[in-house]
Amino acid sequence: MSKKILLTGGAGFIGSHTYVALKDAGYEPVILDNFSNARRDVTDRLEIITGAPVVCIEGDVLDGNLLDRIFSDHKIDAVIHFAALKAVGESVEQPFEYLNTNIAGLYSLLGAMRRANVFTLVFSSSATVYGQPDQLPVKETAPRSFNNPYGYSKLVCEQSLEQIAASDQRWAFGILRYFNPVGAHETGLIGEDPNDIPNNLVPYIAKVATGELSQLSVWGDDYDTPDGTGIRDYIHVVDLARGHVQSVDALLKSGEGHVVNLGTGTGYSVLEMVKAYEHAAGRQLPYRIAPRRAGDVACVYGDPRLADELLGFKAELGLDEMCASSWNWVSRRKNF
Ligand code: UD1
Repeated sequence: MSKKILLTGGAGFIGSHTYVALKDAGYEPVILDNFSNARRDVTDRLEIITGAPVVCIEGDVLDGNLLDRIFSDHKIDAVIHFAALKAVGESVEQPFEYLNTNIAGLYSLLGAMRRANVFTLVFSSSATVYGQPDQLPVKETAPRSFNNPYGYSKLVCEQSLEQIAASDQRWAFGILRYFNPVGAHETGLIGEDPNDIPNNLVPYIAKVATGELSQLSVWGDDYDTPDGTGIRDYIHVVDLARGHVQSVDALLKSGEGHVVNLGTGTGYSVLEMVKAYEHAAGRQLPYRIAPRRAGDVACVYGDPRLADELLGFKAELGLDEMCASSWNWVSRRKNF
């Protein structure tokens, strides 16, 4: 019997790619999503990609009664918890919404899991918990901090999971610290689709490439980096999705938890990203140099070795594939 995996936020960018990776690996994913930052037709497109009906429940992780119903209707074996808010700037303006959705949302889910005797959870964390690391590439043992309510929410969730795991051996948590997920599925049917003007670099560049936005603002060219612009560890979302399958495999097999970086170990600057995207899109992309964005750090890239050691996870797709697949997605999306 295939194992059933509940994907909260499964219609979103990372969730939808993980859905495909889980199906490919023989799991039966079940999606719960409130569609606050995902389009409803994602499920139709997942059906085209996988050739099978999608089970998707519309609702919120804060709704404990709904969670109880899902656990009893679907005999869930493990959960991957993507559902969360993730825009840093917005979190400063609306801290309650962020803390409630991200922290109370996790507690609501854990409560329902415990009532249903399901103790295996993969949690979406972020390299944001490292702030500006002292040492690069950053290792999982680096000190953690936060600069904004979003980062605080991820840190509190990680610490809560650690305390809960220490108190009861039945729990097995996979905490995955994502670096910067970009790119899209090779079919061009799913990808990142922000509702508003994108905050993140690659979705913004993509909209400049399609002509929806007129130019990119490069937030600062006076950082202590070779070209002065910020450096990040961009990882193809298809690789990242596979990391979730490997995490859930490991948890179900061993019952042992893990905390790992999901990145490539290589950093690229903003200007390198612009160049790579220009190559993919076959056009020049207008940009201007603007002041630094508040709260940004100069350079972050992760040490990927622990994920390899514990999960056998290695990112395989490079920068060209990230940009080409993103461009394929945004140029086709106009026709949906
Ligand atoms: C941001 C968040 C991080 C969160 C992640 C995922 C901040 C400070 N950090 O990461 O906590 O986990 O998103 O949502 O917001 N850039 C531009 N112009 C743009 C957009 C970005 O120059 O229009 C630059 C940034 O200054 C940075 C790089 O591109 O150097 C990447 O930015 P972004 O995609 O927002 O990711 P992070 O800042 O790494």
